Amino acid sequence: MKKYNFNAGPSILPQEVIKQTAEAVLDFQGEGLSILEISHRAKYFQPVVDEAEALMKELLGVPEGYRVLFLGGGASLQFCMVPYNMLEKKAAYLNTGVWSKKAVKEAKGFGEVVEVAQSTNSIPNDYEIPQDADYFHITTNNTIFGTEISERKLQEIYAKKGNVSLIADMSSDILSRPVDVSKFDIIYGGAQKNIAPAGVTFVIVKESCLGKVSRYIPTMLNYQTHIDGGSMFNTPPVLPIYTALLNLRWLKANGGIEWINRRNQEKADLLYKCLDESKLFTPTIMDKEDRSRMNICFVFKPGYEELQDDFFKFATERGMVGIKGHRLVGGFRASCYNAMDVEGVQALVDCIKEYEKLH
Ligand SMILES: Cc1ncc(COP(=O)(O)O)c(C=O)c1O
Repeated sequence: MKKYNFNAGPSILPQEVIKQTAEAVLDFQGEGLSILEISHRAKYFQPVVDEAEALMKELLGVPEGYRVLFLGGGASLQFCMVPYNMLEKKAAYLNTGVWSKKAVKEAKGFGEVVEVAQSTNSIPNDYEIPQDADYFHITTNNTIFGTEISERKLQEIYAKKGNVSLIADMSSDILSRPVDVSKFDIIYGGAQKNIAPAGVTFVIVKESCLGKVSRYIPTMLNYQTHIDGGSMFNTPPVLPIYTALLNLRWLKANGGIEWINRRNQEKADLLYKCLDESKLFTPTIMDKEDRSRMNICFVFKPGYEELQDDFFKFATERGMVGIKGHRLVGGFRASCYNAMDVEGVQALVDCIKEYEKLH
């Protein structure tokens, strides 16, 4: 039976990328060695990192003066590295859910933190950004509750941030849509959703924003260390970086960000339309502008909740994988990352409609 992978992360990757990774595990570029056993210092690995950085820059239109780093530690380590490197006195955070909250918690260890607004089921825009903050931090896509900062709300943020540095956790929507990188000083995320298997973290950092805090920054937590070392100060996650490269090549070959943005919109429209019209289900995010295209959350309408386990079984029998909602939200979550095609989302829509006919 064909499986449709709606896992929230680690998550679906293009089949051809998985196959090419498997080939490299057996024999890396005809060298007679597995990628699992080569040195990251070997002459053939540096080009992998260089090309991955170049492709991230090309696909996202990263301007001059920025570096793209591939590090360990996950986005969770960035919750701490960001304030370590950037927070001198005060930082502002937009709290849009679990991940923003974790970022706030870490920042509090370094200075004053202002939460300008908080909400889990919508994206607030009625707030000011303190102009004396060292930076303003946002989470562009709320993986758990299924909200995403729309392009229009991003434009509002750009307009009201003034000269304050903008920093974003883009773990779950990086490379899913165009983004004006020039408006940000740091963009980071765990790569295990739209880029790579688990184990590598991307950081896009504007070099000129660094070096402004007065504290000592431990070597491994200092962005400058990794810029100077070209992401190879210590042993990098070799295999996930290689898969990231293959995935970036896949995205470029298919038409890049414009193509994937259109496809992601088509998938989200398809599933949300089905849910909006459903007699049994409802999306959890009611404001259409704030709906995530990557993580589509839905629940049974009142009166039908007892069907939850039954639908889960029904969908699993039809090849749907990973659609259980996060325990904080309940219900269902279909993560429709870049590698999920329209056919996969259509299969879920068909499954929902088939179930509705039976009830
Ligand atoms: C938006 C967001 N930020 C941060 C994280 C944490 O990432 P990691 O597990 O790489 O630390 C996640 C994980 O799902 C996420 O979705």
